Amino acid sequence: MANAVAKYGTFKDSLSAPVHRWFTYPAGYSYRLVEAKAAEFGLSTRSLIADPFLGTGTTSLAAKKLGIDSIGVEAHPFVHWVARTKLDLNHDTDLLGKEAKLLLEHASDIRTEMGYRSAGWPELVEKCFDQENLDALYALRTAILELGSERQAFFKLALTAALRDTTSAGAGWPYIAPSKFAERKVRRDAFDEFTKRCAIMVEDVENFIEIESFHSVINGDARKLASYVNERKVDMILTSPPYLNNYDYADRTRLETYFWGLYDSWADITANVRNKLMMAATTQVHRNKMARTIEMSLVRSIDPLVHAELSDAVSRLGILRKQKSGKKSYDLMTAGYFEDMARVITQAHSVLKPGCPFILVLGDSAPYGVHVPTDEFIGKLALGAGFTSFSVEVIRNRGNKWPSNAQRHKVPLRESIVTVTR
Ligand SMILES: C[S@@+](CC[C@H](N)C(=O)[O-])C[C@H]1O[C@@H](n2cnc3c(N)ncnc32)[C@H](O)[C@@H]1O
Repeated sequence: MANAVAKYGTFKDSLSAPVHRWFTYPAGYSYRLVEAKAAEFGLSTRSLIADPFLGTGTTSLAAKKLGIDSIGVEAHPFVHWVARTKLDLNHDTDLLGKEAKLLLEHASDIRTEMGYRSAGWPELVEKCFDQENLDALYALRTAILELGSERQAFFKLALTAALRDTTSAGAGWPYIAPSKFAERKVRRDAFDEFTKRCAIMVEDVENFIEIESFHSVINGDARKLASYVNERKVDMILTSPPYLNNYDYADRTRLETYFWGLYDSWADITANVRNKLMMAATTQVHRNKMARTIEMSLVRSIDPLVHAELSDAVSRLGILRKQKSGKKSYDLMTAGYFEDMARVITQAHSVLKPGCPFILVLGDSAPYGVHVPTDEFIGKLALGAGFTSFSVEVIRNRGNKWPSNAQRHKVPLRESIVTVTR
């Protein structure tokens, strides 16, 4: 397993790797995994790689560096925007430098002229910064929004990344909860952090050497992958879907989306993000609307044996939830997760060329202590959907806790790479 880290890296590589470092997304994997798998399966500059759960664009960016075409799909509109902005590296760095300077001057003027305190921030934003930084951020945000140039997204991303550099609440991932994080000992200034971010990004654009290739970054749904790419066109699918571990991806970037005024409440995020993601968290479960999900009809049609095992786990979870005070809907979450993954598998089968791999980085889980071997089930479902072989490489043992469970279970969990061949 130590070898796996050496070979494939971890998301931490993205904190220092050019362009990958433009936005910290701990859900991501390393660009080194993409390079390793592209080499292992002999991808060339004529190949097409797809990632149906693109996140902030690791797969596409690594492909761009290798000159391999890519198609990436991400359902979260803000996360998709980050990926798209990172992929757009066709900038004149002189212009970027000049514009950064102008922006800072304009923001300084706005701050000086501000005869009033910047009001109207959502509570979360207000709690994360002191008043001086709130004013600075308001001025920077205004200056960027007033910028009419095609480089606006570039600077928006620089300021977006500067938020967690600046916050006095500590850079808490995945969910920022100011009350739960110790204050930073050293105060950081929003203007300084934005300036540093701009400098890093300009340097990365300057140094990025790419081999000409084509990249399509789609704000869409992995469960509809075949509607974005023709049948039998793809040479490799490499992806990391949400794990069955109750992480609410819709909530991970709440600070950033509130800051830009994209959403302003839980209900807003539910309508515009949460409801568009595949099932992976109990916060997505609507019990009254999901009565039929429990039947897992697609899973049943693909592999009745997996269906039987899953049904058993789902009914145990249904009984357990009634005995627990939290009454978490792990039963419907699990059923919905595999129905959604079954859809993704059938779509993947349709777009891949025969003989080509579908590679998934996955974690298993044990809601209420009921172990669900996700890697094995996904592999078997893929065989049922027409793939010819599957293998599982365990890359990491994970902490044996279920985050939302007060009574921690002792089931050992793992993270694996599942490879199935079309
Ligand atoms: C584990 S992360 C992938 C991270 C990515 N490998 C990276 O390096 O940034 C899973 C992603 O799937 C996205 N997602 C969830 N449901 C989706 C769906 N139905 N279609 C496409 N993307 C989805 C989430 O928003 C999240 O960004």
